[in-house]
Amino acid sequence: MKEFIQSLPKIELHLHIEGTLEPELMLELSKRNNVQTPFNSIAEIRDAYNFHNLQSFLDIYFQGTDVLINEQDFFDLTWAYLLRCKEDNVVHTEVFFDPQAHTERGISFDTVVNGIHQALVKGRTELGISSKLIMCFLRHLDEQSAFITLAQAQAHKDKIIAVGLDSTEIGHPASKFERVFKQALEQGFLTVAHAGEEGSADNIHQALALLKLSRVDHGVRCSEDAGLIEQLITERIPLTVCPLSNIKLKIFACMAQHNIVALLRQGVCVTINSDDPAYFGGYMTDNFLAVNQAHPMNKTEIAQFTFNAIEASFISQNEKNRLTTVLQSYLDFNQ
Ligand code: HPA
Ligand code: ZN
Repeated sequence: MKEFIQSLPKIELHLHIEGTLEPELMLELSKRNNVQTPFNSIAEIRDAYNFHNLQSFLDIYFQGTDVLINEQDFFDLTWAYLLRCKEDNVVHTEVFFDPQAHTERGISFDTVVNGIHQALVKGRTELGISSKLIMCFLRHLDEQSAFITLAQAQAHKDKIIAVGLDSTEIGHPASKFERVFKQALEQGFLTVAHAGEEGSADNIHQALALLKLSRVDHGVRCSEDAGLIEQLITERIPLTVCPLSNIKLKIFACMAQHNIVALLRQGVCVTINSDDPAYFGGYMTDNFLAVNQAHPMNKTEIAQFTFNAIEASFISQNEKNRLTTVLQSYLDFNQ
């Protein structure tokens, strides 16, 4: 099964590019840019990655972003992630970035988006990995800051397919961003949002009702509400679930208690993703392996995660059909 999972064509739909900053690159950039970090070695950095909830992770995650200064840094970060995708046979990825984590530090929006975009273009031509870019608003910042960020994105509409919502869920409801999302939708952006990660099923309801979402990021707390699960199934609303992240941030006590396989078997359009792999101990293959180890599945069930991801992705119908054929051939050949 390990080989089947390793070579399975994969699609990633929930990945924060800032969350792919490996300790080695963090130290290299801190030297290159002469930016102090509180850490003196790789071991010290890894030691700090013991989180007890979402906020304890976010504090370290935002600290890590301080070493990213120049366009080249954002390029190098993204390129390293794409090389890692190649190893895991990730054929398509939809990447989040947090512009405000950088503009708040005086880095220009253009620097951030151009660096990431150049690497994604190179990934397409040199690695054959297709991609989309999704701009997230930080929900702990105010509405005005989100509106400013949306205005900065206007010059880059050709590079950004959707807007999202991340950072601290509790205390920062979807309603705070209803007007920003309305404007983004009017401008042609698709929308996604983190909901039901640390917050309750009510947050998922609210986000769906107010933000016209194409999919829900995390959403695992839906299990608290049978009516919501019914809605997710009948309306085919996808969830981008991040198993290793959920264990690291103590959303579930252990993988055996994770609900992703139960949701799959109920018919929810769930997908497997890595979220912030440099911080949570694993990329795409690691996440699939961890889920399968705790919840043994057959090959058809494992492949269903990628079928779901194809359906949930923002690629064209033609491209969806092509990837479906590739995946079905892989499954048939390996049965
Ligand atoms: N949740 C909320 N905000 C985030 C996450 C997450 O899992 N990763 C990066 N920012
Ligand atoms: Zn996330």
